[in-house]
Amino acid sequence: MPSADRLFQPATLGALHLPNRLIMAPLTRARATESNIPTALMARYYAQRADAGLIVSEATAVDPLGMGWYRVPGIWSDEMVAGWKAVTDAVHAAGGRIVSQLWHMGRLVLPDYIGGQAPVGPSPIAGEGMTFAPRPDGDTGLFLPMKPYAIPREMTQADIDGVVAAYRRGARNAMRAGFDGVEVHGANGYIIDQFLQSKSNLRTDGYGGGVDNRLRFLREVLAAVAGEIEPGRIGLRISPTSERKGMGDADPAALARGIGRAAREAGLAYIHLIEPIASGFMEAPEKPVIEDLREAFGGSVIQNGSFDAETAARFIAEGKADAISFGRPYIANPDLVTRFRQGLPLAEANFDYAYVGEEKGYTDYPAFAG
Ligand SMILES: Cc1cc2nc3c(=O)[nH]c(=O)nc-3n(C[C@H](O)[C@H](O)[C@H](O)COP(=O)(O)O)c2cc1C
Repeated sequence: MPSADRLFQPATLGALHLPNRLIMAPLTRARATESNIPTALMARYYAQRADAGLIVSEATAVDPLGMGWYRVPGIWSDEMVAGWKAVTDAVHAAGGRIVSQLWHMGRLVLPDYIGGQAPVGPSPIAGEGMTFAPRPDGDTGLFLPMKPYAIPREMTQADIDGVVAAYRRGARNAMRAGFDGVEVHGANGYIIDQFLQSKSNLRTDGYGGGVDNRLRFLREVLAAVAGEIEPGRIGLRISPTSERKGMGDADPAALARGIGRAAREAGLAYIHLIEPIASGFMEAPEKPVIEDLREAFGGSVIQNGSFDAETAARFIAEGKADAISFGRPYIANPDLVTRFRQGLPLAEANFDYAYVGEEKGYTDYPAFAG
């Protein structure tokens, strides 16, 4: 078989059966209501992309205290479940599959979103950089104000138990909303990553120190989620080599092996590894960890980061990854599967509308018209 065709072969990730190996990566697009309820517009957007092998939803907050981004969706209330049900129904009606990316931002929540209190994190160390603040009353401009991250409050055991319980509720609600599974967001400097990486976790209790201790929070979250969903429908997204937002780890390869072991013991459907092959949205790491991860995990790995049709097919053909996910290309190319399959040119996204707006720059990108 020519290697280009490998992207279009079916794959089985745990209990998830995919018609092809081209995955839609999670993309925060901030088109929920101001009360974080998914909208009909979101259902339309996801249905337009239903021929992906699997859609991973945008990051979805499991708890109001873990939500620090304007107009992102949540999954803690019945109204949110109803909004998501319309999304999953639309994707299924269009022949697709979709998992819910369960998210808690931990230290990256701006106090503005949570009544002025400090966010929670494993240790009192702020993330580096700035993020979107809520839109001021009466503001009608396109761009949101930006603010620096705050110093988090070090989590107590009760805080930890509360966040683990929120993941469990998120998993239960995702099933009620008709998702095909969930992807636990353990990447990009959010709360699970904050516990995993040594630079953001200076705890001296059972949740900090060596890799096994730093894995404990992740293990508890996975066990809670597996209390609601069969493990074959649970994935995990990680970015152990990423140093964005003040992240960093003393030994990313050892961390990747630890995560692989934990995921194997939990029986997960897949690990979704952000490890770019070229710098772009994130830096390509000097020392990739995919081999360490694969060896320790033994299950299916989706790789992500700066792939195109050719590199994706090659990585799959060479057995480096089981599937490849695409983020930025999915913004302007709802028909990415067809474009890749037929070698058609890609449309360029307007990134002004990546995280703000309504239909424009969201649902108005057409399929290829020749
Ligand atoms: C607009 C935008 C929103 C994103 N939102 C999320 C998100 O909600 N969850 C997540 O894990 N990654 C998110 N990412 C990262 C992407 O999933 C992906 O890792 C990144 O775009 C690199 O892949 P690419 O080179 O195919 O674009 C986002 C990226 C972009 C550009």
